[in-house]
Amino acid sequence: MCGIVGYVGNKSSLPVLLEGLRMLEYRGYDSAGVSLAYERDMITVKSKGKLCELEKKLAERNIRESLCGIGHTRWATHGAPSDINSHPHETELLTLVHNGIIENHKSIEGFLLREGYSFVSETDTERAAKLIDYFYKQTREPISALLEAKKTLLGSFAFGVIFKDIPSKIYALRKDNPLIVGYDSTSSYLASDIPAILPYTKRCCRLSEGIVAELSSGSISFYDKPFSLADEKFEEVEWTCEQAQKGGFPHFMLKEISEEPSALRSTVERRLDSLPPSLFEGDDSILKCVERISIVACGTAMHAGLVGQNMIEKYARIPVSVEIASEFRYRDSIIQNGTLALFLSQSGETADTIAALRKAKELGYPTLAIVNVFGSTLAREADRVLYTNAGPEISVASTKAYSVQCAMLALLALNLALLRGEMSEDKVKKICRSLLCELPSAVESVIARGEEIRTLSQSITDAEHLFFIGRGIDYSLALEASLKLKEISYIHSEAYPSGELKHGTISLISDGTPVISIITDRALAEKSLFGVHEVISRGARVILFCSEDIAREASLPHCERFILPKCPSSVLPFVLATAVQLFAYYTSAEKGLDVDKPRNLAKSVTVE
Ligand code: F6R
Repeated sequence: MCGIVGYVGNKSSLPVLLEGLRMLEYRGYDSAGVSLAYERDMITVKSKGKLCELEKKLAERNIRESLCGIGHTRWATHGAPSDINSHPHETELLTLVHNGIIENHKSIEGFLLREGYSFVSETDTERAAKLIDYFYKQTREPISALLEAKKTLLGSFAFGVIFKDIPSKIYALRKDNPLIVGYDSTSSYLASDIPAILPYTKRCCRLSEGIVAELSSGSISFYDKPFSLADEKFEEVEWTCEQAQKGGFPHFMLKEISEEPSALRSTVERRLDSLPPSLFEGDDSILKCVERISIVACGTAMHAGLVGQNMIEKYARIPVSVEIASEFRYRDSIIQNGTLALFLSQSGETADTIAALRKAKELGYPTLAIVNVFGSTLAREADRVLYTNAGPEISVASTKAYSVQCAMLALLALNLALLRGEMSEDKVKKICRSLLCELPSAVESVIARGEEIRTLSQSITDAEHLFFIGRGIDYSLALEASLKLKEISYIHSEAYPSGELKHGTISLISDGTPVISIITDRALAEKSLFGVHEVISRGARVILFCSEDIAREASLPHCERFILPKCPSSVLPFVLATAVQLFAYYTSAEKGLDVDKPRNLAKSVTVE
């Protein structure tokens, strides 16, 4: 949801800004822009389209070297993608980039019109920029101008601002949207996410809400009031630069799928040196009185929650509900004692999930977050947090983060099963051993068969509509397989429980309709195969993703198929997930689409 970068130091700012924007383009890519500050003036260049369009525009101009600048890559909320609506927004006294939504932009506009301001864009951001301009005019003091504006602004924002009469400093302020600052001996950096800063420094600070950061060459000061310095914490980031680059892969998505074995190993290994799986370093009080779990998340993370529901109910016999965060936050929930609210998120910055967490806390639920990004808002605000250690995920379509969320949920399910005496230690140990020893290698063996999956995907590249079907946990996996395929291949896809098609949707099956059937649950295999025969007899062209034992024992229909490697049943959901992620990846790549940046989407949905 929009990427912000800022640089001030002894280097030329433009290359640093462009490189940072490239690292953040996954957050939004419908337009981009930069403002470069000079002693006596400011240059702002912006362009609709991807970053390369901005670069073309910059190359056409003779841009002087500037040591201080801000940049932005946009995911439009107010106003269509266009040059004029792109950021930065320049006013008489400043230039500003913004991530978020200003909810009261209309009333701010009314106020500013009365004060003699006029507007050129349709954006809420221009209204915010001009409000800060208005306050700056009163005092010529940047901290108070920003903090005064903050009192008026409703909604969410992360701002990077350069005041034209202070061309060697960048100011930053945020509410409900992330901002990271970092510095080295000669320069300071601002960004909405860590990858943009990683090439320069690993000492980063996640700016707290309501604190103004003042970035100068090689130092950063923080203010909670004008002239009142505040303390902010810097942390050493574990991620490496290589993790945030493509490393020879054609797309981040393929690279991230190929990292699944090591991500799974890293998530599982560090928690399996004792039994029960040590999730909370000795203090597992949050799990002690759990009688119900309410999992809340969005999109792919919500689908991981469905897989978790299957595992927790099966292993620990605890009832689990799974809710979409944007629904949970506005629903008139009924709280039952003993309910643990569990939030899943790769980024830890998804606006709806954060709002749902805040609501759960208000209602008095104990809260636990499973998050990939260290120190993110969800991680900081939940009562307890479990990190998934998948490393940075850049491709918009989430893959490795989903797999490790499922792995963490498996560990949680086993932990709860032991605590509640629902499973013997021996049984838990056996499953843990499979997760530790057999899971990463089984996933590796699927990745090694990418060519086979690519060939299968060629048979659907021309499809306009298709269905995924499955039962039990295979239905949960089908939902994610379907989302992955549709978001990056633009093929309309729906996932159905195999037994439900005949209650309506089967009327859409006709000659040649592709139906992708997922069958890994042995107990339900026979019933799932009924569903396959039902669609085949109505003309469907079936592609089967099936476990090895089922392929060996059941009589499968004549159809295209991908047989998963032989592995324990506890490992199968993960292996299947990788196979269908690759299927989506190759479909999109075969169609020549922009796999990592599908249209209309952005990573990390920090607006409602
Ligand atoms: C789809 C995808 C999204 C995210 C969702 C939640 O591939 O990535 O559906 O899963 O936006 O994001 P996080 O996990 O960051 O809360």
